[in-house]
Amino acid sequence: REPAADRAGALTFKPIPPNELDSLIVPNGYDSAVVIRWGDPILPGVPGLDVRHQTAQRQSAQFGYNNDFLGVLPLGRDGRRALLVANHEYTNEELMFPGFTSQEALTVEQVKVAMAAHGMSVVELERVGGTGQWRPVGGRLRPYNRRITMLETPFRFTGPAAGSAWLRTAADPKGTTPIGTLNNCSGGVTPWGTVLSGEENFNQYFVGGDAAPAELKPRLARYGISTTVRVPAGSRRWERAQERFDLALHPNEAHRFGWIVEVDPYEPGSRPRKHTAMGRFKHEGANVIVARNGRVVAYMGDDERFDYLYKFVSDREFRPGDSAAARRHNLTLLESGTLYVAKVTGDSPAAEIDGSGKLPSDGAFDGTGRWIKLVSGERSYVPGMSAVEVLTFTRLAGDAVGATKMDRPEDVQPSLLTGKVYAAMTNNTNRGVGTFAAADEANPRNANKHGHIFELVEDRGDNTAESFTWSLPIVCGDPADPSTYFAGYDKSAVSPISCPDNVAFDSAGNLWISTDGNQLDSNDGLFATAIEGSERGHLKQFLTVPPGAETCGPFVTGDDRSVFVAVQHPGEITGATLDDPASTWPDGDFAKPAVVVTWRLDGGPIGS
Ligand code: FEO
Ligand code: CA
Ligand code: CA
Ligand code: CA
Repeated sequence: REPAADRAGALTFKPIPPNELDSLIVPNGYDSAVVIRWGDPILPGVPGLDVRHQTAQRQSAQFGYNNDFLGVLPLGRDGRRALLVANHEYTNEELMFPGFTSQEALTVEQVKVAMAAHGMSVVELERVGGTGQWRPVGGRLRPYNRRITMLETPFRFTGPAAGSAWLRTAADPKGTTPIGTLNNCSGGVTPWGTVLSGEENFNQYFVGGDAAPAELKPRLARYGISTTVRVPAGSRRWERAQERFDLALHPNEAHRFGWIVEVDPYEPGSRPRKHTAMGRFKHEGANVIVARNGRVVAYMGDDERFDYLYKFVSDREFRPGDSAAARRHNLTLLESGTLYVAKVTGDSPAAEIDGSGKLPSDGAFDGTGRWIKLVSGERSYVPGMSAVEVLTFTRLAGDAVGATKMDRPEDVQPSLLTGKVYAAMTNNTNRGVGTFAAADEANPRNANKHGHIFELVEDRGDNTAESFTWSLPIVCGDPADPSTYFAGYDKSAVSPISCPDNVAFDSAGNLWISTDGNQLDSNDGLFATAIEGSERGHLKQFLTVPPGAETCGPFVTGDDRSVFVAVQHPGEITGATLDDPASTWPDGDFAKPAVVVTWRLDGGPIGS
């Protein structure tokens, strides 16, 4: 066979070592640059960031805080312009406001700044010279630039639960028009050129669950909202700025978050949508593939310890081409379909799964699985729950059908080359502890600190199939730790990895994995490995981010010349503040979340 280094798409870069530097580190032969950072103006008429004079109006026109998901979509055909779409998941008020003492002590205007710093941004980019570097197009009004904020951007509900009683509020008696999007974590770019974004930990923004109607309390509690305490610890106190965050007054407001959002960046005036047909949970994100029969399939994770993996299959078929009619049609694909949850079974005797991570006697953590149908259109398959109830309280539907409790499913993404699906199980330190569920073959380590990668292969290679096989190609950690596994590859040649969060692919089909919460005394970072052939499991570290940051995105451009990462919450270390920072990246004064692009100095493809 060909030596690995000679194959197209082979990952030949020299891995970087683990480190704790307050810098963004890339391999020899590469360079990196900040594309855009928190507070950079993206709409006309606002100044740059001045931390002592922040207003909600300014923040609503500046790049938001804590960039997580990134999509980079081509603009025109010459490869010189693109649209960056970024999620702004949450805020770190202690790192944003000088003199911060507590959430309670923030002014109402500061609370509104935080609300405006949540949401999404669309930013027009241009290529720098002929290189893999990109920067925002400056100088005049950019028609595609856009801010979507939690403060005031209207959305539209689609699908069977739109307008239902659970979504109606005093401000929106029809239950069709929620304001803003909350805690947007990961996402995906669709084949029709839109961006999907997952509303994740929305529970932390609400108070007053103790005074919610009794019949709602179990449902609120299943989503992590306290039903016994008025103001739970860590609450953001947004009810001080907008009353809707007080569930004692507006108990349905919480149900208007936890959805998959779709934004069309090519139509800056379009109203973004929340698709109820895709279910409601702590959505990490959604990634779409067109199945052989033309239907589109979205894979999704619910990022909570012991929660579930889901997929959505559209009723209608994808229409190829970029005609206006095809685009209009494709924009409806996620509005109706069938929602499934995964039940996963190991093929080794349960007695061989002892929670230590020791491989069973067949040499693999692997097995089969079924997609259990929860709801299709207006028809529920869950006894005792209506279709609207299944869609609005999807976690309870998953509980009712006995779905498999996973170790925090984060990004779930199909390879467009093979149709195989890769899911990051980031960690689950409660696995097997006390009365919590013990290890099983798909989640094989108790007190799972470092996480693992789950690979799912649909039967017959059909992404609409209702059964699959699966295996764990990577069980993360220090390769010297016997509980780790790198697809059987020589462990002396792989990089240590902990807490996989986001996954992506380059055009050769290599898997890129970014991490959040490294438990190995090193900063978080980005890794890459082949997933087919003899190099499967040869994981190498490509970059690291500053202390306290998680690495998000990542996004490899279609020409393989640039990899974008989002550096989220740099300097988020207990006790650190803007006045006493743990990181001063990227500008040397105080930490700012930012988007970074990395490219090869000689212009060659990333990774090789
Ligand atoms: Fe926002 Fe699941 O990470
Ligand atoms: Ca097995
Ligand atoms: Ca994440
Ligand atoms: Ca991804």
